[in-house]
Amino acid sequence: MSRVLAIIIIFTLLHCLFTKEACVLTSEETVGPYYVENMPFRQDVREDRQGIPLKLNITVVDTNSECKPLPGAVVEIWHCDSQGVYSHYQAQSLGTGSQTDDSTFLRGKTYSDSKGVASFITIYPGWYEGRTVHIHVRVHFGGLIVHTGQLYFNETITDWVSKISPYSSHSIDIVSHAEDGIFNIDGLATAYFLGDSVSDGFTATVTAVVNSTNVPAAAGFGPGMRGPGILMFLSRHWMAVLAVILSIFVTISIGAVFVVWYIKRRNKKNMDMEPVEEILSADSPSFPLRQEL
Ligand SMILES: *[C@@H]1O[C@H](CO)[C@@H](O)[C@H](O)[C@H]1NC(C)=O
Ligand SMILES: *[C@@H]1O[C@H](CO)[C@@H](O)[C@H](O)[C@H]1NC(C)=O
Ligand SMILES: *[C@@H]1O[C@H](CO)[C@@H](O)[C@H](O)[C@H]1NC(C)=O
Repeated sequence: MSRVLAIIIIFTLLHCLFTKEACVLTSEETVGPYYVENMPFRQDVREDRQGIPLKLNITVVDTNSECKPLPGAVVEIWHCDSQGVYSHYQAQSLGTGSQTDDSTFLRGKTYSDSKGVASFITIYPGWYEGRTVHIHVRVHFGGLIVHTGQLYFNETITDWVSKISPYSSHSIDIVSHAEDGIFNIDGLATAYFLGDSVSDGFTATVTAVVNSTNVPAAAGFGPGMRGPGILMFLSRHWMAVLAVILSIFVTISIGAVFVVWYIKRRNKKNMDMEPVEEILSADSPSFPLRQEL
């Protein structure tokens, strides 16, 4: 029995070891066509844009320190307004021309603090044709662009938001995560209500795992540039896959040990019985002999 206990303890330790959140880089996503350089340092990026308040905390952690927070990174965000319009590219967004403009709404950058957190105040993004709801994120450190990604929201929340003005007046269909060629679960933010209702807004948190000394290759545009699903999954989640395989192996081992122990115990019981019968049957013939003597 103590052997079973020992195995259970080892199993638990291994389980803790292998299911520890792996420090894996957040996937790179395309920068997209609406990036603008040299946007202002500011946490409140709303300017005149109306919409549901969104407080955004982007935590930057570094693979070079096994995912400890990275303070002093410049975190940049940009996204469209409730009607799917990007500043600087309003004409393109509306499909009315190709000229750019000087507007800067819903764009800005700030430093990550001592906990690696870069906080922004913005509005919940709107949507436009071909893309699911997203916010672009770029992280600079030591003069390097160390991450370019996108963050996403729970579709139920987007659905609630879409029913509230001014979002409700934007009549184009929302592209789901599944329909979006760029969506990656990596970028899914966790959202919390700021108040009692959807219109009070949300606070959303997401972690960007970056290598502070590496400039990753730019991610391509569109679904064609994605790696093969299963290989991508294995390469990103090999620790978890290993943990599952190990868990199955250990579970089977425990089962086997238990079965062996049970069979042995049963056999032992049977063996304890047999000698008694043997002694009786062995002795019984000798009784008459002794008596005769
Ligand atoms: C967001 O970050 C700010 C500043 O670091 C912090 O006060 C706040 O609690 C954070 N919110 C969440 C939901 O993590
Ligand atoms: C999205 O939010 C809804 C409502 O809070 C929740 O029931 C659901 O599980 C969430 N979905 C995901 C994928 O987190
Ligand atoms: C980070 O990037 C640098 C430069 O490419 C590389 O030498 C280093 O091994 C990377 N760190 C990790 C933890 O992958």
